[in-house]
Amino acid sequence: MQKFTFYLLITGIALVLYSCATSIPRSDSAHQAWAEKKWNTVHLDEGRSLYVTNCSGCHSLHSPLEHSQTEWTKLFDEMASKAHMTPSDSVSVLAYLVTFSKDTDMK
Ligand code: HEC
Repeated sequence: MQKFTFYLLITGIALVLYSCATSIPRSDSAHQAWAEKKWNTVHLDEGRSLYVTNCSGCHSLHSPLEHSQTEWTKLFDEMASKAHMTPSDSVSVLAYLVTFSKDTDMK
């Protein structure tokens, strides 16, 4: 019985980690190319890791898919000042969020 509880716990933890990881998408070359058209020199991978480190202190991370491009631009202004981010880090994080927003069309 104890062994069973242990496995249940491990499975639970794995599931939680898995769902966290999938809601914060990683960029591929298509997303990177789309973002470069808008922001020239931007690194979405860097934006993603800055997002994870700067924006998880007060609440759990929101998936970029929760908001549209316009919503992110507004929300981000508010949150970036809470997170005390440098202007250049802000650009990377906003680029990441906008690229993966719910209304971004890769075409
Ligand atoms: C100092 C604490 C703090 C930090 C750091 C922070 N937030 Fe928040 N965030 C809040 C609080 C408090 C709320 C809920 C109240 C509000 O909307 O102001 C919130 C709400 C949100 C929401 C939900 C708003 C909605 O209406 O659905 C999003 C999205 C968000 N934050 C994104 C971010 C992002 C992106 C960053 C990193 C740049 C960030 N947060 C960093 C405190 C913080």
